[in-house]
Amino acid sequence: MMFDYLFSPIKLGQVELKNRISFQPHLTNFAEHCMPSERHMYYWGERAKGGAGLIITEEMSVHPTDTAYEKLVEAFHAEVIPGFRKITDYVHQYDAKIFCQLNHNGQQCDGSISRLPVWAPSPMPDVLFRETPKEMEPEDIEEVCRYFAKSAVHVREGGFDGVELQFGHSSLARQFLSPLTNFRSDEFGGSLENRMRAPLMFIEAVRKAVGKDFTLGIRLCADEMIPGGLDLGQIQEIGARFEASGLIDFMDLSIATFYNLYLVEGSMHTPLGYTIPLAAGMREKLKLPVFCTGRINDPVMAEKVLANGQADMIGMCRALICDPFLPKKAQEGRLADIRYCVGDNQGCIGRMGINRTLGCIQNPAVGLEKEWGEGTLKPAPVKKKVMVVGGGPAGLWAAKMAGRRGHRVDLYDRNDNLGGQVLTAMKGAGRDEFGVIIRNEKDQVDKAGVKVHLQQELTPEQILKENPDVVVVATGSQPKSRPVGGADGPAVFNVWQVLDGKPELGEKICLIDYDGHHRATSTAERLADLGKTVHIITSSLFVGAELGPTQDLYLTRQRLLQKGVTFTPDIAVMEVGGEAGAKEIKGFNVYSNQWQTWGPFDSVVLAMGQQVDADLYFALKGKVKELYRIGDCVAPRKVDMAIWEGHKTGRSI
Ligand SMILES: Cc1cc2nc3c(=O)[nH]c(=O)nc-3n(C[C@H](O)[C@H](O)[C@H](O)COP(=O)(O)O)c2cc1C
Ligand code: SF4
Repeated sequence: MMFDYLFSPIKLGQVELKNRISFQPHLTNFAEHCMPSERHMYYWGERAKGGAGLIITEEMSVHPTDTAYEKLVEAFHAEVIPGFRKITDYVHQYDAKIFCQLNHNGQQCDGSISRLPVWAPSPMPDVLFRETPKEMEPEDIEEVCRYFAKSAVHVREGGFDGVELQFGHSSLARQFLSPLTNFRSDEFGGSLENRMRAPLMFIEAVRKAVGKDFTLGIRLCADEMIPGGLDLGQIQEIGARFEASGLIDFMDLSIATFYNLYLVEGSMHTPLGYTIPLAAGMREKLKLPVFCTGRINDPVMAEKVLANGQADMIGMCRALICDPFLPKKAQEGRLADIRYCVGDNQGCIGRMGINRTLGCIQNPAVGLEKEWGEGTLKPAPVKKKVMVVGGGPAGLWAAKMAGRRGHRVDLYDRNDNLGGQVLTAMKGAGRDEFGVIIRNEKDQVDKAGVKVHLQQELTPEQILKENPDVVVVATGSQPKSRPVGGADGPAVFNVWQVLDGKPELGEKICLIDYDGHHRATSTAERLADLGKTVHIITSSLFVGAELGPTQDLYLTRQRLLQKGVTFTPDIAVMEVGGEAGAKEIKGFNVYSNQWQTWGPFDSVVLAMGQQVDADLYFALKGKVKELYRIGDCVAPRKVDMAIWEGHKTGRSI
């Protein structure tokens, strides 16, 4: 497949890009003392090496009142310049351009970090941060302009090729533009002209500071997607007025707000390319180059968007977090080698949500490019005979990495397909894309020279007979056999059995959820899709308690409610009793301690935890030269840790 459009050059202002792929701005938490770090340099450098034409950095703060996160780079300090220089020099050696995103987050900030009042157009708390801001006085607006300008000078002096002002989903500028957040009656509120005044002042201040020949663009929220907010029609008008100012060179786009954060980084429950109509709508009205971003994780889709004239640039954020070398692989026609992002949001946005450094479930090298990035894997000095038992994510990754290092690797799995628990998890409602994790790896395992043996459950004796140098046990975990009294009774099943379609289930089902994650909710939804009446009892405050950070909570609950699923939270389930057709659940409310009984149900489904499958490991312990235990058979966790441990082990053998 040729990608004529994707790999054609384009000019943004004075800057010529070699192709149309932009690594989109996103937080990393890699800053050190609010300064750019070496980790940033290697992180962005890896994507430049991987072929992206443009890198746009994470948002950098322009003012002390802008503290959305503890680790924002504070671009308003001149001390950022040497760090900026290191980053831009490093990126430039790979023939990529790099812009810096500048932002003030306005009401979408946390004053407890800065110990300053949060600033906003109106004293209205943001829905996530819930802190009442100070209504900005005109001199505050002037001050922010000066700080935008000062920061932009640092950006230019730091060697960046351009600057992007964040006017999108999380920004003071959007809050001025939107009737959702701007209730002012002075010259900064009311009419569109007034609401655009402060954002235009920010642009003017930056343009004046960086000069005419420095590329300057904005990232506009193309649709707030909320009643009373700005819609595409209004944003087209706003975009046209910004364009008419003659001060900007490109129009990057985002979508939504913190009311509907699940749309900003749509998960796998949001369609691929979900913002394409918005970009197309903006491009229709503008002459400036327009970006399109949102679940375009595939060069084929990217090419189509460009060929159809729906955008001029393709923004890829998670796609390149997951595979920094996607552009290069596409250009070389190696589509099967691309590690496609699956939109699970666990490693990237999920880790940001809990204030960790950025990661990716499929790419353990994120943030560790210096140690684990492209070109760091060295051939093993001594070639060993390696047996990996268990073909789930942990085993697959261990086998692949060991194979790449030149070891002689055999991978065994008792099932007829590689993938372990992922193959079951992907059967949950809307979770099929999760299976791409395995599809991504199968070819890579073959290319690493690993010999795969399916439908082979090895005994310890068989392994010892082979006399391997190394055994990696990755035998996974299973649902707990008896997590609660009565779990072994009639008509009681676990989620794995249900997703694998094994049991005959009645019509009225109770699902007991101690998981809080997709394991429970996607099973409940699948049952509802089959026409069953489903009630969920959970020990948590609410159903889907673990789904917030990945931004799956809102849509999951919406779908469950629309499908008639009912919930009881706060319950410690102590016993499952009764016969098939008349099952009863006994438990107590964890706050009132009052006992209750639910039922009758035809069947009960348990999502009450996993137990290790580690018999093989213990049987081999002390009997092989080098023995590793990785993934769920150490302690049942999520796929990110399985892949992490597989990767790390495969590298170290
Ligand atoms: C972890 C993470 C942090 C983000 N932080 C920012 C940010 O600082 N500024 C911004 O404009 N967009 C931010 N975004 C949004 C992305 O730029 C992009 O619009 C979004 O991820 C959808 O694109 P994708 O489907 O290619 O990932 C962030 C996205 C992720 C995944
Ligand atoms: S963690 Fe998941 S959603 Fe995030 S970049 Fe990696 S594969 Fe994509």
